[in-house]
Amino acid sequence: MSGGVAIVTGAGSGIGRAIAHRLAMDGLSVMINDLSLERAQAVAFEILSAGGKATSSSGDVSNEADVAEMVSATKLSFGDCNVLVNNAGHVHQAHFVDLEVADFDRMFAVHVRGTFLCTKAVLGPMLKAKKGVVINIASQLGQIGGIELVHYSAAKSAIIGLTKSLAREVSAKGVRVNAVAPGPINTPLVMALSDDWRKAKTAELPLGRFGEPDEVAATVSFLASDEASLFVGQTLGPNSGDVML
Ligand SMILES: NC(=O)c1ccc[n+]([C@@H]2O[C@H](COP(=O)([O-])OP(=O)(O)OC[C@H]3O[C@@H](n4cnc5c(N)ncnc54)[C@H](O)[C@@H]3O)[C@@H](O)[C@H]2O)c1
Repeated sequence: MSGGVAIVTGAGSGIGRAIAHRLAMDGLSVMINDLSLERAQAVAFEILSAGGKATSSSGDVSNEADVAEMVSATKLSFGDCNVLVNNAGHVHQAHFVDLEVADFDRMFAVHVRGTFLCTKAVLGPMLKAKKGVVINIASQLGQIGGIELVHYSAAKSAIIGLTKSLAREVSAKGVRVNAVAPGPINTPLVMALSDDWRKAKTAELPLGRFGEPDEVAATVSFLASDEASLFVGQTLGPNSGDVML
């Protein structure tokens, strides 16, 4: 995919930032999307300073107009997107009985609607070119569930279902769709979870430690490359051994 054009959503922080850096290092031109313009611009600047190609746009992946703007800004700067990484996300922790409908709706809007809208916005040109890669960042909690994380886990399971179904539809037409389901990774998102949760989770991990964003970015880099030509509708798990399938 060297010379390709990538969009990484939610790339102003954590895993998305590491993915953007890694894809730029792999030779792709990268659109850095984030809700925060300041963070998106800062990551684009870091990549440009390191000799890579990047640009930025702020926007909410759950908003159709923002997504259309991001995709056309990408086209203007670099051409059609051929690697989309649906990474934008947030976490929120509450017992099921305390969950507000608004919390549930926002979780599904960002993770599921966002993945749907961004994929829909880039898929046409990928199918026309008979070449493209879509990588959806799910979570191991979408595979095994998580206490106080019903809405998050359900949204991540939906992303895995979307990945498998779309992969069945489009892989023979040249577009590979896969998911990555990280375990706990040291980012600001995980710091939003309680200390008790982080302590209990560390004790459960066969590897005995949380992952780093770069370790997830390496998986994404592989899936984006032609080396992953046989990977279709898969959910890869950089997860410190927490989930073994
Ligand atoms: N950190 C973990 O342990 C972990 C584990 C499994 C999966 N994930 C997933 O990885 C992805 C990245 O998480 P992270 O840990 O790097 O979090 P993070 O909080 O460090 O970064 C997420 C970024 O996404 C942006 N964002 C949030 N909502 C957005 C929206 N609607 N539109 C555009 N941008 C938006 C935020 O502004 C932020 O910069 C998320 O989808 C998360 O669910 C994280």
